[in-house]
Amino acid sequence: MLAFIGGTGLARMSGLEITGEHPPRTEWGEASAAVTEGSLEGQPVLFLPRHGDPHSVLPHKVDYRANIAALAGAGATRVIAVNAVGGIRDEALEPGTLVVPDQLIDYTWGRTASFHETADSPDAHMDFTRPFDPALRKRLAEALESCQEHWVDGGCYGATQGPRLETAAEILRMERDGCTLVGMTGMPEAVLARESGLAYAMLCLVVNPAAGKSEREISMTEIEQVVAGGMGRVQTVLAELARSF
Ligand code: HPA
Repeated sequence: MLAFIGGTGLARMSGLEITGEHPPRTEWGEASAAVTEGSLEGQPVLFLPRHGDPHSVLPHKVDYRANIAALAGAGATRVIAVNAVGGIRDEALEPGTLVVPDQLIDYTWGRTASFHETADSPDAHMDFTRPFDPALRKRLAEALESCQEHWVDGGCYGATQGPRLETAAEILRMERDGCTLVGMTGMPEAVLARESGLAYAMLCLVVNPAAGKSEREISMTEIEQVVAGGMGRVQTVLAELARSF
């Protein structure tokens, strides 16, 4: 089943006709919220708000294993993760831009980043060359095109620890590393999805120029305005994607 993980600004999905709920408890811990099951454009889908509903769990406190396990347990096979991000480079700088990244770099620390607990796990060192599922990215691209969205195909998502925003020097280093976007939740979510056998792709909404990339300091009020304006577009794209399955 197709599943959506909602990030900042997407704690509930409009247009979702709810048919059931899967409790948040898993063998790995408590997910941020119950997984909602429902029908979107006539297609069965699952939805989980990454930060809870209402938004209460900070990026460094999210139990990513529990969230992915809850989705897998509810029957997810494909996951679209929605992320509000800072823009670092290229066309991905402008607030309001939608981006489907094709690479990531993990700068987080101290997060439990694997379901594997012992050295005898045969798949512990699995390939992660392409962190996002190419077929699912393609489906997302088609949905964006159908919605006539202005969007960027590809980019490198840098996952930072948070909850504070970055320094200008940290963003410059990330830019030198090749990052075009910065966010706090892409890892270990992406790798845990891969370990669970779920196809995973990200739909990012640029909500601010990253630290040092504009004249002004980063303002939460401005971010909230972009989020408010952009998440409606995101939901239209997700509905179009659901329709296509
Ligand atoms: N940095 C990290 N995470 C973010 C940002 C940012 O500038 N904007 C939205 N999420």
